[in-house]
Amino acid sequence: MSAYIVTFVEPSGAERQIDNAEDGLSLMEIARQNGVEGIMGDCGGACSCATCHVYVAEEWLAKVGAPDDIEFDMLDMVSDVTKDNSRLSCQIRMREELDGLKLTVAPNSSF
Ligand code: FES
Repeated sequence: MSAYIVTFVEPSGAERQIDNAEDGLSLMEIARQNGVEGIMGDCGGACSCATCHVYVAEEWLAKVGAPDDIEFDMLDMVSDVTKDNSRLSCQIRMREELDGLKLTVAPNSSF
């Protein structure tokens, strides 16, 4: 199984570089396996809680891609903290082209 590098910027501002991000796992799963602060993943990746909300670094947006309609609607429910580069990390699968990806954990919303 291939493993890649991903960096999360935690709410405290600390950068957590993870060098064992397994191919095929969601970024939410990778964050939770590594104890990344602020990624809860309460719904287990069912796209129904938004507790895995991240901001994708601008230079990675094209490769990560846009949210689908269901994810977009979920992000709309936390619109007080949603930005143009918002994604739900449970909906992004680690893959080779995302090796080196950088994400910032979004603050909690009032949802
Ligand atoms: S883990 Fe619930 S929406 Fe991502």
